[in-house]
Amino acid sequence: MIGLGINYFANTHDSSACIARDGQILFAVAEERLSRVKHDARFPVQAIRACLDFAGVAPEELDVVCRSWPRHSAFAYHDLKCMLTRKLPVTSAGILTLARDSIAGTLQQRGRKLFERHFGATRAEFHLVDHHLAHALSAYAYSGFDDGAVLVLDGRGAHEATSLWHGRAGHLDHVWTIPFPQSLGLFYAQFTHYLGFTPFADEWKVMGLAPYGEPGVNLDSFISCEDFPYRIAVRELLGHSRSTLANITARFGPPRAAESEIRMRDKNVAYAVQDACERAMLALAREAVARTGSRNLCLAGGVALNSKANGKILASGLVDNLFVQPAASDDGACLGAVLAPYLTRYAALPRFKMRDAALGGEYSNAEIEKTLATYKLNAKRTDDVARSAACLLARGKIIGWFQGRMEFGPRALGHRSILADPRDPKMTERVNNAVKFREWWRPFAPSILAEAANEFLESATDSPFMVLTAQVRPEKRAVIPAVTHADGSARPQTVERDTNPLYWHLIHEFDKLTNVPVVMNTSFNLRGEPIVASPTDAVRTFFSSGLDALVIGDFVVVK
Ligand SMILES: [Fe+2]
Repeated sequence: MIGLGINYFANTHDSSACIARDGQILFAVAEERLSRVKHDARFPVQAIRACLDFAGVAPEELDVVCRSWPRHSAFAYHDLKCMLTRKLPVTSAGILTLARDSIAGTLQQRGRKLFERHFGATRAEFHLVDHHLAHALSAYAYSGFDDGAVLVLDGRGAHEATSLWHGRAGHLDHVWTIPFPQSLGLFYAQFTHYLGFTPFADEWKVMGLAPYGEPGVNLDSFISCEDFPYRIAVRELLGHSRSTLANITARFGPPRAAESEIRMRDKNVAYAVQDACERAMLALAREAVARTGSRNLCLAGGVALNSKANGKILASGLVDNLFVQPAASDDGACLGAVLAPYLTRYAALPRFKMRDAALGGEYSNAEIEKTLATYKLNAKRTDDVARSAACLLARGKIIGWFQGRMEFGPRALGHRSILADPRDPKMTERVNNAVKFREWWRPFAPSILAEAANEFLESATDSPFMVLTAQVRPEKRAVIPAVTHADGSARPQTVERDTNPLYWHLIHEFDKLTNVPVVMNTSFNLRGEPIVASPTDAVRTFFSSGLDALVIGDFVVVK
């Protein structure tokens, strides 16, 4: 069975597509990487085309096309119910959205028309997969667990905000749902907005800012999160009588203006928001284990990218094993949607243990050479690209590292990365000022040889996807200061020789030169842009930034 999975819902974010043959994912990419529009929400035409091209499959050969959202009318129905019961405020904006969703829901087919408009007729069956089911499948089916509790946490599906599922022997059962608007994602997003950032996009910045704050800000009037289930004060956070910002302002003062200086008050609010999210997630994890009896926990949904909370769940001892799907946000829901037909057609879901996320496009040396020639770049070919890169890093150079298949999900994992020397305490500032042009407080992450993880970290020693935070061992904090956060934490990627051989080789060579088996790794992009996908993107980013060298395929370009 050849299946195409799609994440697309008008007016949201992170459209994407993947293609699977007999349940095995061949290729996956977010539309933003190809369109170069961050969080692109349009129908993922370029991503679908890339999937079909990679698999050598014509549109008419597809068996199923599965989209990870229900009809618009499912939203409209849920929101209407909430308005009638006063769970959602009756505002003009809410009524307009409801009207738009009702009309769109009536007009919209299962996506066949939209697909065929771009790709021609196909015999494929079209499925709409409930958004949380798609997230849940995307976590359980790739976790490698036979028996696992699955928590989905995000802004919302049609009616869900948080849901618990139980995967057993290839079957997935729904346990409970906390309906929208009781949404942890919404809670975090509203405070992200209050702190001067973009909601549903910049939550990382709040998480990064939190360790600089101090306890003391009381959020009790917005959320209660000691016990299961957490309770969001919807009246305050969805603006029943006045706007949400006005409600938060009444408690903590005016919102921070975008790009303005960060004050102590902002840091303290970030601390309190992150702390509340962590407590709510710990209570959810406790409940998930109690209800399912499984100590293997899978997480998906945008809130599951809260690496600090994930690290605390793992370190708490509540679970034995934790799998966070690396593309936990909506782009990754296509990985689950494409498997949904197996729930009804076959005895069990296909399942895999995901160990790397390199599911995107790749370029040959010939293609790279052609691009370098087009831009008349003086590139040197090397027979040991990993060693060449390690030598540059050990000399303090900041490099763009473009190798193999692009990662799926928000993290660069050694395929489209900017790398630097983690031993230099000034490196965070250097990379921030010269390359990323991003906020001073956002931490950079270490990539560590898997075999050395225990020597450097107190927990999360198996962390291939950078979705868990761990504490760096106190005696090692001065060894890798550029990747150790203010509170002694780091968001590590542990690199295994067999799953990521070239990147492993680079770090190994760096270790031979410096006795430190760690490099600083951040995504290869400029602030506000998607991660580079093609050699042209890489060259453009290289020359638009303070990168010292570009190591691309077998070629090295030095400024
Ligand atoms: Fe979602």
